[in-house]
Amino acid sequence: MPEIRIRGRCLNAAAGSNLLDVLRQADLPINWSCRAGQCHSCLIQNLNRADISPAQQGLSPEQQANGWLLACQCRVEQDLDLHLHDPASDSLPATIERLETLPGQVIRLQLKPARAIRYQTGQHLVIWLNADLARTFSLASLPGEPLLEFHLQEREGSAFCHALRTLPTGATCYLGSPGGHLGYDPEWHNQPLLLLASGTGLAPLQAIARNALAAGHDAPIQLWHWQRAGAPCYLQAELEHLAAQHPHLHLQLRSHSELEADLRQLKPPGRGTRALICGSPAFVERLRKPLFMVGLSGRQILDEAFLSRSR
Ligand code: FES
Repeated sequence: MPEIRIRGRCLNAAAGSNLLDVLRQADLPINWSCRAGQCHSCLIQNLNRADISPAQQGLSPEQQANGWLLACQCRVEQDLDLHLHDPASDSLPATIERLETLPGQVIRLQLKPARAIRYQTGQHLVIWLNADLARTFSLASLPGEPLLEFHLQEREGSAFCHALRTLPTGATCYLGSPGGHLGYDPEWHNQPLLLLASGTGLAPLQAIARNALAAGHDAPIQLWHWQRAGAPCYLQAELEHLAAQHPHLHLQLRSHSELEADLRQLKPPGRGTRALICGSPAFVERLRKPLFMVGLSGRQILDEAFLSRSR
């Protein structure tokens, strides 16, 4: 039976058991969210030479070289010496510069990292408020902008949003490494873009639209956003201002109650369209089929589903 040594304790784990489950059952303070290897909130460091490469997929080369792994992706097959992630020493500090409530109970959070970080438009990263509370959010800002921006849907009972609202401006939080495959490729400059977002899936897709426009994208860009019924698009004024400056940016700011009717009429804006989808898993799944039906291939579609737990 493999042994796991951590924080002065020695745990026995059944061979093949999931490391995240073992640590949670032992009441160790390990963060987690998606359980799918995407959010990177369950980071933990391996201190011995065990082969952990399957649990390192998606981590940066530097993280891999330093023995970091994703607990939710790790099968315990051998003895492990582990170090629990401590955001104060293992992650990049950032200060809270601004917190604003937008329509539809969306929080706009702006952070100033202690040093500039490299990321690609549309990527996501983990924000730790403290050692016990972390969630993953998409970047709504563009590389080169002075502050990192995130859009958080505030739901009743959300521990993260509740804790965030208790922090003053200037408080410190901690950032993980950017990850994810959404982005804008400059080679798409003459291909139409179809950007399809639900809720705060708008955060990365509006950033990609702004990135494309700044890069001189000259084919049509259609940006669809479905907001929950009864609330306007939380970025309506800013997007309309942007569209007024760029006539080839076409906005469709809709309500979720209109989604089914909209999908029946959805058309790619031209040959070679690139479609990018972002939102809940159900939303992403719901949109794939209509896009195939109107002739887009899997190669033309990029998507990302928010798999974070909501509390
Ligand atoms: S990557 Fe492990 S919980 Fe998300």
